[in-house]
Amino acid sequence: MIRAYTIASGKGGTGKTTCTINLGASLAKLGLETFIMDADIGMANIGLLLGLEDAPITIHEVLAGKAKLEEAIYDGPNGVKVLPSGISLQGFQLANPDRFRDIMKELVNRCDYLLIDAPAGISRDGVIPLAIADEVILVVNPEVSSIVDALKTKVLTEVVGGHVACAILNRAGSEHTELIQSKLEKTLGVKLIGIIPEDPNVRVAAVYKTPVVMKFPGSDASRAFRRIAAHIAGIAPEEGVEMASDGFVSRFVKILFKGAR
Ligand SMILES: Nc1ncnc2c1ncn2[C@@H]1O[C@H](COP(=O)(O)OP(=O)(O)OP(=O)(O)O)[C@@H](O)[C@H]1O
Ligand SMILES: [Mg+2]
Repeated sequence: MIRAYTIASGKGGTGKTTCTINLGASLAKLGLETFIMDADIGMANIGLLLGLEDAPITIHEVLAGKAKLEEAIYDGPNGVKVLPSGISLQGFQLANPDRFRDIMKELVNRCDYLLIDAPAGISRDGVIPLAIADEVILVVNPEVSSIVDALKTKVLTEVVGGHVACAILNRAGSEHTELIQSKLEKTLGVKLIGIIPEDPNVRVAAVYKTPVVMKFPGSDASRAFRRIAAHIAGIAPEEGVEMASDGFVSRFVKILFKGAR
């Protein structure tokens, strides 16, 4: 079973962090034990988006060998476990990204899903998350530059021994979606597992430091995130939405998934 996914892109600002927190919260809502980790140690955003910017211990301290992994884990929306990175430059300088591999190994043994938010670009810090996950999900916008950069990231992932599983089209407009989908799948050579529309609710939710799937569950973007989470969890999308509101069923799913391992 695939448990650790790195959410990557190539080009910056495509929606990696937005996807990580919303898919993480959606998977957790389905009753699945889910961790989200900020591997963007230079420009950390998960903490800022979830109101954890003052967290005293973060991934920075763990990567610097100054704190235990346990101390950097916080409770997030819907019970998702959050490992934020720090925002200080000094913390970034002291962090050793080579330790990510050990962190990942420790986390996957205790969860159903681990989502790793990767930095943009092809720096050393950015390459490690591509190599350590079971699979990489590319977040792409409907622009040529975004698709080309995602292709570069796919090639780089393969070079470092990783595997790109699929892509998500984020910030999609309402026009030419089918054409964009087929061009994207052809260019990247992977399947699209979801299309998230451009939705102003995403930015508003960010102001409230809450994932859009919690702040505006009925919004178009939230529906799309829940569909993708259901796809990742291997359940029918409608079922996924229903389960989100049924504590008993979601606990039952959790037992079923655990038993399948
Ligand atoms: N579907 C969407 N509709 C509207 N706005 C969106 C959507 N997805 C993301 N955004 C906005 O786009 C901006 C960039 O999103 P995000 O920070 O998630 O991207 P990123 O890929 O993590 O960026 P970086 O490469 O800098 O880490 C944010 O302001 C976010 O609120
Ligand atoms: Mg980000």
